[in-house]
Formats: sequence, C-alpha cells, structure tokens
Amino acid sequence: MENQAVKVQLLTYMPTITQEKVIRKKNILHLFKNIPQKPYFEDTKRNIALFKANCFDILPNLPENSIDMIFADPPYFLSNGGFTCHAGKMVSVNKGKWDESKGVEGNYIFTQRWLRECQRVLTPNGTIWVSGTSHIIYTVGSAMQTLGYKILNDIAWFKVNPPPNLSCRYFTHSTETILWAAKNKYSKHYFDYDLMRKMNNNKQMLSLWSIKAPGFAEKIYGKHPTQKPIELLDRIVLASTRQGDIVLDPFAGSSTTGVVAVKEKRQFIGVELEEEYLKTSIKRLKELDGKH
Ligand SMILES: C[S@@+](CC[C@H](N)C(=O)[O-])C[C@H]1O[C@@H](n2cnc3c(N)ncnc32)[C@H](O)[C@@H]1O
Repeated sequence: MENQAVKVQLLTYMPTITQEKVIRKKNILHLFKNIPQKPYFEDTKRNIALFKANCFDILPNLPENSIDMIFADPPYFLSNGGFTCHAGKMVSVNKGKWDESKGVEGNYIFTQRWLRECQRVLTPNGTIWVSGTSHIIYTVGSAMQTLGYKILNDIAWFKVNPPPNLSCRYFTHSTETILWAAKNKYSKHYFDYDLMRKMNNNKQMLSLWSIKAPGFAEKIYGKHPTQKPIELLDRIVLASTRQGDIVLDPFAGSSTTGVVAVKEKRQFIGVELEEEYLKTSIKRLKELDGKH
C-alpha cells in the first residue's frame, strides 16, 4: 500500500517536471525580446520563426546559451565566373551576389564573425553543423579551432549522382564536407547513437554518407541554387537533437533545416536575406501542416 502511494506521488510529480521543461523551451518567442524587427513569418503553434535579415543583425540579439543545435550552410564563395554542367548544359556558376568571394582574408573574417556569434548562442552542450566545399570548409575548420569549438566529426557527404566535370581536367566533384562541432571542449554533446545504428541496418553509422542531391519533388515550391536534401538534414536533426529542441539556421535559404526540424517536432528559427527564398520556405513549411 505504501509503495502504491509512492508510485502515485511519483507519477503526478514527474509529468510536472517534464511539462515545466518543455514549456520553458517551447516558447521561442521569449528569445526575440532584444531583436528590433518582427519575424517575417511566425507560427506560434508549431514554434517556427523566420527572419528576413542579415544574420549579423539577428545573432547578436539572441540570448547566449539558448540554442540547442545550429545547421549552417553558409555562402561557399564559389560564384566567381566559373562553369559547371546543369541538366546536360554548360552554365555559369552564379548563385547570387551573396556567394561572391570577399578574398581569402575577407572570407575568413566573415566566417569567424558568424561562427563566434553561433558559439555564444549555443547551449553549453549544443552542437553546430557546417557544410561546405573546398572553397570555404578549411576556413570554417580553422576558424572553429581558433574559437575553441570541439570538432566531433567531419562528415563526407557523397552526392551519388553529381554532374560531370566539363573541363576534363579534374576528378568529378562529388563530395561536400560537413563539420560537426560542440560549443567547446567541456560540452557533453548529445548523439543518438542507437537511432543512427538502427537507421544503418544495426551497424555503426560511418562518417561517409551517400545521399542524392534533392530532386524535383523537393523543389516544387521554388528552386534554391544550393538547396540541401531532406534526407541529409533528417539524419543531422535526428542524430543531434531531441524533440522540443531549438534548431537555428542562420543561412536558411529555402529552409530545408526548418522543414525537417518541424517534421521531427523540433522548434525552428531561420534567418535569410532574400525574400524569394523566404517565400519558398513558407510554402514548404505550410505544406507540412496541410495548409498549402
Ligand atoms: C548555401 S544557401 C543555403 C541553402 C539552404 N541550406 C537550403 O537548403 O535551401 C545560403 C543562403 O544564405 C543566404 N545568406 C547569405 N548571406 C547571408 C547573411 N549574411 N545573412 C542571412 N542570410 C544570408 C543566401 O541568400 C542563401 O539563400
């Protein structure tokens, strides 16, 4: 009888703790107190906020230790008049003004600046993922080391169906690197090892990921020149966050990170300069809610 009483007491007590934790984290609105502008799009039911802004105007105004996970797909600085192959045709590599190089030093200053802000807002055990090609990833790695991030993995994303190399003077570019890092050396980062193993036929998941570039079905609401595949973000979100966690993407583009975060019941804050990509983002996010 006494045991029963203890059990009942525990059961009524435990949900209160869980609820309190979730409620505190659930309301992302309290993070925006110092941000002068209103979100461009907000969904208070599913806890989504998109800002039409330069991330340097948003990140410094977010409270420190407030974000559980960041995925950043920054400018790669590769739009410099080169050529690539798209749908069998030779096209110029011009992803937009935002992707033009600032020179080696300028790219480093830009990268270190946003990485420093991201480190400040990450929770003590939070982690960041940054994708990039050779044009930027070494700069990212070097800046991370200088800032005291702890690099956890360098994922080699094998793109499976890459376009051919037209010049025939190089190997076909078919990989991107994704660095996964914890806030600092004291972080006790979260990793859902069991789920990753389960998703890999009960074998340890390697740091080599074979995932196709996004196809037509993922671009029906608009095309982003550097859109990431849902499958890639799904793995990242599931590996490094729990339900209810707050995920931030400072270079949101078409919000692939947001689509996955919301699908997996995480909260999402996205920042993007271009209205066109925000419109695509909103359509993608609304589709998940069956509202489109
Ligand atoms: C590589 S793309 C991200 C693509 C995204 N991962 C997706 O799946 O659609 C980088 C994006 O960052 C935006 N951007 C560039 N500089 C920015 C800045 N300082 N603040 C916010 N957004 C920026 C660009 O407009 C571009 O859409």
